[in-house]
Amino acid sequence: MRLEEAKRDHYRKRAREEGYRSRAAFKLKQMNDKYHFMRHGSRVVDIGCAPGGWLQMSSEIAGRNATIVGVDLDPVKRLSENVKILQDDVTSQDFAGRLIESLGNRRADCVLADLSPKLSGIWDMDHYKQIDLCMKVVDLLPEILETGGSCIMKAFQGDQLPPLIQRLRKSFERMEISKPDASRKESSEVYLVSLGFSGQVPSQSIEASQSSRQSEQRSDSVESDWQDAQ
Ligand SMILES: C[S@@+](CC[C@H](N)C(=O)[O-])C[C@H]1O[C@@H](n2cnc3c(N)ncnc32)[C@H](O)[C@@H]1O
Repeated sequence: MRLEEAKRDHYRKRAREEGYRSRAAFKLKQMNDKYHFMRHGSRVVDIGCAPGGWLQMSSEIAGRNATIVGVDLDPVKRLSENVKILQDDVTSQDFAGRLIESLGNRRADCVLADLSPKLSGIWDMDHYKQIDLCMKVVDLLPEILETGGSCIMKAFQGDQLPPLIQRLRKSFERMEISKPDASRKESSEVYLVSLGFSGQVPSQSIEASQSSRQSEQRSDSVESDWQDAQ
């Protein structure tokens, strides 16, 4: 068995044994251990939260006094008292208003987004759609994130990633690209860890360039991304 497969199996097994709904929970834990974006009592929003591994980990890290709101298109089974679930679409009209209401009319200290569109297997399209979802979250930040807050976002690598990185760099004091150990090296996903929100985001550039990736690399990555979400 190759090292990366063994690693995936290791985290899958651990998730099962420790009662997490996805092995993605360990990615969040590893990033928080390094960057400390969540603390006891934090108000956390998790956009694209199903089946709920990140919600479970956030609830553990931020504790009983935290307010955690998970959002997904899909239904999510109930979790602990401090976790509210909103079945909603981040791209829909008035989404920010509904989210803020769920947060008790206050903005979040931390916005998490582990979003994946339904993958088609056509790499360019999946990459564009995923980055579009990320851009939508960035658009919403001034309404949903406290000044000084953090945003942790999954992004698929490709030619649309640099404009997203640029926007985040201009909006936060610090932005780092992270690849936690629990994320397989072959997967095209990276995590953008943005700390110290300025309160504002620059508007989105409409420029889009063509991807230069080879099609066989694309289908490999798509397969990895699916596996990586499990
Ligand atoms: C990789 S999964 C998230 C896994 C999660 N972090 C966990 O630990 O269990 C990505 C999620 O993004 C959700 N998603 C995709 N598009 C969305 C949208 N427009 N609004 C809300 N959620 C969306 C999908 O339904 C899917 O459940």
